[in-house]
Amino acid sequence: MSMNQPKRYLITAALPYANGQKHIGHLAGAYLPADIYVRYLKSQKRDVVFVCGSDEHGTAIPIQATKEGTTARAIIDKYHPLMEQNFKDLGIAFDIYHRTSDPLHHETAQEFFTKLNDNGDLEIKESEQYYDEEAKTFLADRYIKGTCPNCSFDSAYGDQCERCGKSLSPDELINPVSTLSGKTPVKKLTKHWYLPLDRHETFLRDWILKEHANDWRATVLGQCKSWIDGGLQPRAVTRDLDWGVKVPLTDAAGKVLYVWFDAPIGYISATKQWAINTGNDWKPYWEDKDTKLVHFIGKDNIVFHCIIFPVMLKLHGNILPDNVPANEFMNLEGDKMSTSRNWKLDMQDYINDFINKENGGSQMADVLRYYLTQIAPETKDSEFMWKGFQDANNSELVSIFGNFVNRTFVLMHKLCGGKVPAFHKEIADELDQSTIADIKNTVEKITGLLEEYKFREALFEVINLARTGNQYMQKKEPWIVAKSLTENPDAQKNIDNCLHICLQLTANLAILINPFLPFTAKKMCHMMKVVDKILDWENAGSMKLLSAGYTLRPPELLFRKIEDSEIMEQVEKLNAASIKKESNEESVVNSELKAITVKPEITFDDFAKIDLKVGTIVSAEKVEKADKLLKLQVDLGFETRTIVSGIALHFKPEDIVGKQVTVVTNLAPRKMRGIESNGMILMAEDAKGSLHFINPEEKINPGSGVS
Ligand code: MF3
Ligand code: ZN
Repeated sequence: MSMNQPKRYLITAALPYANGQKHIGHLAGAYLPADIYVRYLKSQKRDVVFVCGSDEHGTAIPIQATKEGTTARAIIDKYHPLMEQNFKDLGIAFDIYHRTSDPLHHETAQEFFTKLNDNGDLEIKESEQYYDEEAKTFLADRYIKGTCPNCSFDSAYGDQCERCGKSLSPDELINPVSTLSGKTPVKKLTKHWYLPLDRHETFLRDWILKEHANDWRATVLGQCKSWIDGGLQPRAVTRDLDWGVKVPLTDAAGKVLYVWFDAPIGYISATKQWAINTGNDWKPYWEDKDTKLVHFIGKDNIVFHCIIFPVMLKLHGNILPDNVPANEFMNLEGDKMSTSRNWKLDMQDYINDFINKENGGSQMADVLRYYLTQIAPETKDSEFMWKGFQDANNSELVSIFGNFVNRTFVLMHKLCGGKVPAFHKEIADELDQSTIADIKNTVEKITGLLEEYKFREALFEVINLARTGNQYMQKKEPWIVAKSLTENPDAQKNIDNCLHICLQLTANLAILINPFLPFTAKKMCHMMKVVDKILDWENAGSMKLLSAGYTLRPPELLFRKIEDSEIMEQVEKLNAASIKKESNEESVVNSELKAITVKPEITFDDFAKIDLKVGTIVSAEKVEKADKLLKLQVDLGFETRTIVSGIALHFKPEDIVGKQVTVVTNLAPRKMRGIESNGMILMAEDAKGSLHFINPEEKINPGSGVS
């Protein structure tokens, strides 16, 4: 444990946009690790405030409103309470879940801006921006569409081309059009306030790259460094828009604060609201150097929390974050999670399918928390697989943790009369001693890991301790010892010692699992007939948690098995969405393909990443219920692979067996109709739309390289 403990903690989790359902990638990225950390700190009785809330500004929300034929207000009023409830259902226990549409937030953000502006910390610049004369409004980047200068896609947005992914500015678009009126916008002079990040380069370099070189995550430091090295520019902090926090100046009519300026200030307004609700003072949490501020976020938020907001905080006279343990992304069944492509698992869907079902309950919230922590993308992107979810539950929570606790209780009732047996020190053996030592060591290890935000490893240690418990019991075999009781009544002492240790271990497990699986810890307290206070971290490592002679309740199952059918149902649900996605994407791409002659330039290195080999089709069959797909086995020399290819409308399976093809062999595997495809076959399409294989003139050995 750190010697100089901070006086108090302010923990934040990224404010989610109130424009739609949030998925488990969001949960795993910010909210769950933050919650684990906070529960741990609270069990240490530290002074902690955990804030979050809805991010309700930005152009995404009015755009969403237009799409749904409603108002921005209606959108946020729909999603704000929904997200708040989702978090509750999954055991994310914020001290406050606020919202940025609240007047208190508007005041707070305006005061913040005013102070920076009055101190001369902002720059004002005039520039020409696109204006829609019909709608009488300046156009946010997202409201302008045009042709991408990079790939010629004709519906690129003013901030990004969704086809080639390039970030754009509206000025780069060819033939820009306003999406509000469909008219060509005109350039008009407008004034904006900028945060001159370039003035703060030295501060940022020293503070991030020197001071925090050893305690911030490498991925976070890496992003910061490349931003700083890339050259810091003044960032506009105002927008011509009517949805947001109004710029508090008389000469700024029709302007609001940029959403990324106001949203992080939401952490401060949330703290203020918490203080009002609880009769506390919010100020020390943001002004006293003895406060440890930690931001939990996903990697797409790094620059805002590590560069822009800290500069704002410094200028405004606030404390800076002590750490920003950002997570990488979590993929789902082999593909990036994405709302627009509908490849995701929403918190709400999980809650409906697992928690609110008869066979579910909050135990199932803990199962999700368990798996998401086990695969937390702390150092690199990770992968949520339904099979992995099932395995984590069935072979760890059920078979190791649940099993240990259950056996302990069952045997205690059977062999010790339902009471905590005494510990007979005089006959304690080496195994008893080493098990006790294991408990103490594990507590220390876990404490250290949690202090360093290594939740994944910490959780592993908890399960490992339960595993140790099982092994201990297996070696002691109290049920066998019990058989000798008639000849040797003294053997009861051995049984007592074993179950005494197992019960103290159970109580320790409850303390250690509590930050991760709070519902489970509560249930264990109920079984042990103890109050939640036992879960205080200072009790961890103690072998005196349950007193001899104390009567305990009968066991309840902590976890239930997850059946194959439940998992299959989820995979099918996802794949149904994926087919939709594939056909959508295909039709968009196909209709535009014709217009494109040459794709944007790539480097030789880009090309060299693709591994192409000649393969021979050894078998081909139709995929059930998918008229376009063939499932192929392709001999690649070194192995034969399953490849699913969308060529069923062009070839009969029996006609292509024996044909040679060119295969992209290092394409990430991808599931289609539940079949994993491990590669892609190259095809040429002629003017009539017929497909042709790309293959060598004469048959050559499968596995031959193509370059
Ligand atoms: N709404 C943003 C997102 O979902 C996060 C905002 S974090 C805050 O990416 F700091 F600005 F609040
Ligand atoms: Zn493009």
